[in-house]
Amino acid sequence: MQVFEADLISTIRSFTRAGDISEESFLDHAERVAHIAYHLGKKLALEEAELAELVLSALLHDVGILTTEEKLVLADREPVRDRVSPHCRRGWQLLRPISLFRPLAENVLEHHDYFSPGLRLIPAIIHVADRVDIFLDKGVYYLWQVDDILEYFGKKKGDIFSPDVVEALEHIARAPSFWLDLRYGNYQYANGRASFRRTLTIAELEEIAHLMARIVDAKSPWTGDHSEGVAAVAEFLAHKLGMSPEKARVIKVAGLLHDIGKLAVPDEVLMHPGGLNRSQRALMQQHTYHTYHLIRAIGPGAEQLAGWAAFHHERLNGTGYPFGLTGAQLDLEARLMAVVDIAQSLLEDRPYRPAMSREKVISILRNNVDAGHIDPDLTELAITYIDELRDIVDKHR
Ligand SMILES: [Fe+2]
Ligand SMILES: [Fe+2]
Ligand SMILES: [Fe+2]
Repeated sequence: MQVFEADLISTIRSFTRAGDISEESFLDHAERVAHIAYHLGKKLALEEAELAELVLSALLHDVGILTTEEKLVLADREPVRDRVSPHCRRGWQLLRPISLFRPLAENVLEHHDYFSPGLRLIPAIIHVADRVDIFLDKGVYYLWQVDDILEYFGKKKGDIFSPDVVEALEHIARAPSFWLDLRYGNYQYANGRASFRRTLTIAELEEIAHLMARIVDAKSPWTGDHSEGVAAVAEFLAHKLGMSPEKARVIKVAGLLHDIGKLAVPDEVLMHPGGLNRSQRALMQQHTYHTYHLIRAIGPGAEQLAGWAAFHHERLNGTGYPFGLTGAQLDLEARLMAVVDIAQSLLEDRPYRPAMSREKVISILRNNVDAGHIDPDLTELAITYIDELRDIVDKHR
């Protein structure tokens, strides 16, 4: 059934990109750090497997950042240590339960540690790579900044940064192409390296999707455990529609990821209490645009999965967003997600209101059908199982 191939590096690159979109100064930060770290690692003669570990850890190094405020703390050249450690710890906590990422968790935990003889090489490399990207003034031609950068790292060598890594930096910095690649987005860390190119199993993709769902839900204080709930309800209804277990599992993954684009929405909108004004709404509504493109980029053939996840605010009558699709253009799976997205939110206790009554949920769903927004048959299916859906939503809180 699985017609797409989720590639390990592409998936991680795409999902970590989500969090870097909302803050201009951090755009592509994860990728840029991976690029720098990769060149440092090669110069330090890491073996193939270590290089892969380095690049993956570099892509994920800031996965624990929860708020823009935390991000801005890191924009200081030498941030206060106590203010840095929360995102390192949170990243470690998030990655550890995931079998695929467990070996990387310690690297993320230690990526801001000051140099000591016991510090392992991979976090030491990521630390330097991260600071190089922060040091670079994106508004000034990169090659004009190289001398200043080397002077800074030379002074801090052996104190904040590993001397070996700084020496490697001094070597790679001599090639203008290293900086030009960074400036023009020719990030080289996965080119032609077979060991980096690996297709994820659906189980691995699901694990990663759970991680992303947890991050999205943690960043969205007003919507409870929406992503996990949507995934579980969508999977349940997929079974009821007679879909195969494999297919239902893919639907679940789509559910876990359906709001991943919210990571690209600014905090002040995502965390805003109460209703949104017109301009905030415009920013919020771009989330499904990003969901689509972030999922599409995970590997060949992922467009369909991207659509199942991202079209949940499209409406049958064409008045939805952000693509303005109509019923004829929406797969059954995408139409299902739109119903589930609404049903879950009504059935869940929210910080600003309790879960709605059975009757209220049913009437709101039917109103949406009457307005030409969502699929009538799928809505009736959800209504048939409304009590089961409530149990599922409660269980995933
Ligand atoms: Fe960073
Ligand atoms: Fe959404
Ligand atoms: Fe949603």
